[in-house]
Amino acid sequence: MSIKPTLLAQPGKIGSLELKNRLVIPAMCTNYTYQGHFTDRAIYYYGLRAQGGAGLMIIEAAAIDYPGARSVLNNSVSDDQYLPTLKKLAEEVHRYGTKVALQIMHGGRQSSVAICGSQPVSCSNISSAQVLYDRPREISTYECKRIVKLFGEGALRAKKAGFDAVEIHCAHGYLLSAFLSPTLNSTRTDEYRGMEGGIKLVSEIIQEIKNRCGSDYPVLCRINGDDFDPSGGVTAIDSRMISVALEKAGADCINISSGLRESDHHIHDQTMASPRGSWVYMAEGIKKTVTIPVMVAKHISEDMVENILVKGQADFVCIGRPFITDPEYGTKLLNGKAEEILPCIWCAQGCFDVLWMLAPTTCLVNPAAGRIDEASIDKIPKASSKKKVTVIGGGPAGCEVALIAAKRGHQVTLYERENRLGGAYRLARSSPSKREVERLFTYFEQALPNSGVKVMLGKEVSPDLIKKEKPHTTVIAVGADPVFPEKILGTKGSNIVTAAEVMSGKAKVGNRVAIWTCSYHCTFTCKQKITPVEGDLTGINSTYSYACQAGYAAVDTAEYLASQGKLVSIVTERNAVVPGMGYTSRGYLIRRFYRANIRVCSNAKVREINDQGILLEKAGITFLLDADTVIISVGAKQRKELAESLKGEVPELHIVGDGQKIGNAMTSIESAYDVAMKI
Ligand SMILES: Cc1cc2nc3c(=O)[nH]c(=O)nc-3n(C[C@H](O)[C@H](O)[C@H](O)COP(=O)(O)O)c2cc1C
Ligand code: SF4
Repeated sequence: MSIKPTLLAQPGKIGSLELKNRLVIPAMCTNYTYQGHFTDRAIYYYGLRAQGGAGLMIIEAAAIDYPGARSVLNNSVSDDQYLPTLKKLAEEVHRYGTKVALQIMHGGRQSSVAICGSQPVSCSNISSAQVLYDRPREISTYECKRIVKLFGEGALRAKKAGFDAVEIHCAHGYLLSAFLSPTLNSTRTDEYRGMEGGIKLVSEIIQEIKNRCGSDYPVLCRINGDDFDPSGGVTAIDSRMISVALEKAGADCINISSGLRESDHHIHDQTMASPRGSWVYMAEGIKKTVTIPVMVAKHISEDMVENILVKGQADFVCIGRPFITDPEYGTKLLNGKAEEILPCIWCAQGCFDVLWMLAPTTCLVNPAAGRIDEASIDKIPKASSKKKVTVIGGGPAGCEVALIAAKRGHQVTLYERENRLGGAYRLARSSPSKREVERLFTYFEQALPNSGVKVMLGKEVSPDLIKKEKPHTTVIAVGADPVFPEKILGTKGSNIVTAAEVMSGKAKVGNRVAIWTCSYHCTFTCKQKITPVEGDLTGINSTYSYACQAGYAAVDTAEYLASQGKLVSIVTERNAVVPGMGYTSRGYLIRRFYRANIRVCSNAKVREINDQGILLEKAGITFLLDADTVIISVGAKQRKELAESLKGEVPELHIVGDGQKIGNAMTSIESAYDVAMKI
């Protein structure tokens, strides 16, 4: 049992708002909306998390103009028609004794015509670096005044709907964040020019809200502690000055976040690659300059939360994604049961990546997140009858199916042929950017036996063993093997190895490494496809995204080897490496590649692999990419033998994970969860 965090449990105040403790769920868009209205799914999702122990829940960014202020499929606060669902949401959160604020925002330049219905607007016409967005136009002084009014009207609607506070979104490169940036806001000639002009605009918004909602209506401001913009932007010193000015303008709390699409710094990385708690120092700096409370977020692990308060680095701690993974995060942490929390691994794969595909967000670790029948891991409904279940394979899918089946009351035995759980996915932890993967298996290692699962390690399963054990249900989760494209490779030379051989330490690797991945020899096509949602005027929704384990393994191996000082190149026949990977993961990956000197050669045909390296053809040029070691990661082949031999021999047989459909850790865990819920 972990120690109960005492300071975290202390009541706190934001202006007139009294909170039962210091734990805050920050705004996180879900895309659980339809034409600007929250859906029942959203109400249920937030209600479940409102029962999870936080003192304050900040609801995701609501567009103050619809669809003009959207950046994703935001909810809206721009008209009274949205009041009924906003009211329903506020009531649902209050039902569990949790206070609720609504974040109000304008997407500014981080939007596109398809999403906001017309040309995006900003403080200037400087485009965002992100391929998702269209070039903005600079708004006029008159339009700035209108923005002030829209924020005021939105806040009043939030108050009428029952929200206890509003948070003005001045972070992440959206409209107000761009206005605060000395770099992006450098071309205007009016009173809203430069950082000073941005402060003026936000100050007017605060005043407008106070005028409309009452001076005691709490207003939080979420700002960037640092834009991490290589061309300038708000720095960690600027953000302290901005905080002082916003306090003076009437803000009741400063919520520190960071970054915009141009950011390029390893501590801005929103995946698990960044160090834990890497933004706390900015909150600490700001806390020294203001008297109002300060909160901070990002990649904060359970053991850090109390320390941040003890050291006086912030007054409140925001925990975002870990609440997606475990809706009971707060209750467990506050009760000294941190080890029981289903852990977020900050992978960004199910949440951020899916968000920008404009699909409903989910979670790699908790596939039930956001489903209308989601239950917390420890409150999953029991099955109608208890069954004897045998699971073969201890990778992510095997662990998941065993755990969920056991939680549902079944008698479960899990076999793994290696001496550790985790399969190929756990190997990723060797990459300096994937260390948090280990958290998932540390959790499984204690949760499986604690839930009654008999874990049998180092045991290869034969059909005879299953026939002897006579389980009611057999689940095969044995994964897949790497594909070996014989046409190109001929016989496999000693310089050719697989990603798994490298990551498990079985292969000897030279100093110059070439990795071949995402090829037309892959078994599946890695891609994202976006299709319109019927009825949502300008809304679009991704119905399909595919990125397979071979692509992920290739990039993990590249980072692992580069961290050992090797010179790594990646060759792909596609126009990008792992084209199906989400924008958040991809964006940070490419930046890390650049820093680690990992070079990608795309659109290159592999003609031959020999003992000198890879013979490539690109733009009509044939070229030998010299390498001591060539790593092949071009698709995967299902291990079918065991399933074939058990078909018709056992009463109930399921295949989960890659054996069901080649995919990645997220699709594997999801397929396992779905099967476990049906047993
Ligand atoms: C899916 C998703 C959506 C988000 N949407 C918002 C948002 O609407 N407004 C905002 O200020 N931050 C948003 N964030 C950022 C979070 O509030 C938080 O700062 C971030 O997730 C880092 O904290 P964490 O590591 O505890 O998750 C979002 C994060 C995620 C994962
Ligand atoms: S998808 Fe990954 S980062 Fe997002 S909540 Fe789940 S585990 Fe955390």
